[in-house]
Order: sequence, then structure tokens, then C-alpha cells
Amino acid sequence: MKLTLKIWRQANALAKGSMQRYRIDGVEGDMSFLEMLDVLNEDLINKDEEPVVFDHDCREGICGTCSLQINGEPHGPDRLVTTCQLHMRKFNDGDTIVIEPFRAKAFPVIKDLMVDRSSFERIQQAGGYISVNTSGNTQDANAIPIEKEAADEAMDAATCIGCGACVAACKNASAMLFTSAKVSQFALLPQGQVEAATRVMNMVEQMDKEGFGNCTNTGACEVECPKGISLENIARLNREYLSATLKG
Ligand code: SF4
Ligand code: FES
Repeated sequence: MKLTLKIWRQANALAKGSMQRYRIDGVEGDMSFLEMLDVLNEDLINKDEEPVVFDHDCREGICGTCSLQINGEPHGPDRLVTTCQLHMRKFNDGDTIVIEPFRAKAFPVIKDLMVDRSSFERIQQAGGYISVNTSGNTQDANAIPIEKEAADEAMDAATCIGCGACVAACKNASAMLFTSAKVSQFALLPQGQVEAATRVMNMVEQMDKEGFGNCTNTGACEVECPKGISLENIARLNREYLSATLKG
């Protein structure tokens, strides 16, 4: 396949970026999207040009770092896959592909296609944990009975990989789907009840502080989420928040 790539290039966080055009040949349908970018970078390095900076780590759909806006969609045209799991067979010979970083005030560009998503880390740190006594008296987690349905829903929420596609898909750059997944994974379990009220209050406060927008209720986040995190988690977060406010 021969492709034309239009890629956002930006030298650093303060520089003014622009779209640059590249031609690439010999792309195979079995290549992942990131392998296609590797081929481009090899070519650029051989020509003594700056390779394109993009984030990646596991390349297995687990770590959530490979966040790219491809033809206007976070993680590209496929559903329920991350950019690293997107294959070039989804594109056609002669296509032009537009590749940009995720756009959000709370995700500033570091360089080219790489953004700083430490705002997500700070939301997690504000309450995305449980405190457990590890002094030797820790109760075995398996000793606490949990309904199958609650366990399944908590596990589904816990599959959020913190990629940020929900933010990039939202016209308000809202982080509600991410935050609601992190709240839900504990709200559904007995272990999460002790700190439930402070958790939701602190995480929502941090989310607002980071500059994420309000939820638009359009559901774009759910459509683009590579892990299928459901909007039901946002409804749960709202209930948790209301209940925490009434208790407070
Ligand atoms: S909710 Fe989905 S899109 Fe948002 S960070 Fe988690 S995995 Fe990514
Ligand atoms: S590189 Fe880890 S999810 Fe894509």
C-alpha cells in the first residue's frame, strides 16, 4: 500500500505546531498502525530527518499510552481497539491519513503526537485507591462474599486503561467516563465503601481543577472507548456524588 500521511509536528510544548505531509510505500495490511509509523520513522532517520514522536509501550492494548487521533477519531476507525491494535488493513491503497495528538487543554502536547496525561494520574491519586491494613491482620479479599453481578460490573469498570480517548472524543473534553470508571470499580465492592464519599468528592474536585469540561451527554466517549466502558458508570458516579454531598 502507498499512503499519504498528514502528521502534526510540534517541536516542544511551547512551539507552534503544523501539519506536515509524508509519503510512505510498502505498507502491509498485517502491520499495526504503530508499525506503520515505525517504517516512516526508519525512513526519516535514514534521511537525517527528525523522527515523529509518539507514545507507546505495551503494544498489546493494555497500557493506554498509544493515544492518537486518526482521521478525527481517537484510536482510529476500528471499534474497541487501541491504536496499537489497529491494523493497516482498515485502510486502502492511496488513502490519506490525518494523524494528530489528542486535543484537550488538560492534555498539553509535549512533542509531535505525544501529550502529557499526568492530569489523569492526579485524578487517580485524589481517591482512586482503597486503604488496607497490611500490618499482618489483612483479611483475605476472597473471604468477603460479593455478588457475581457486582463483581462483573466492577471488573468491567476496572478495564479502563486511562488512554484518554473519552476526553479526545468529547466536544467539552470531559473526563467523566474515565473518572466514573475509576470510582465505579470501588463503588461496586464492599472494600470500596469505607472511603466512598471522600473518594468521589476528591476525584471530581481534581477533575475540575485539571480543566476538563462538563459531560455533554452525547455518548461520544462510550463510542470511542477501546475498552467499552459504559455510560452507566457516569450515572453511577453522579449517584455516588449526590449521596456523598447529602452525607457531607
Ligand atoms: S474510559 Fe475508555 S476511553 Fe476513557 S480512559 Fe478509560 S479506557 Fe480510555
Ligand atoms: S501501546 Fe499499550 S495500549 Fe497501545
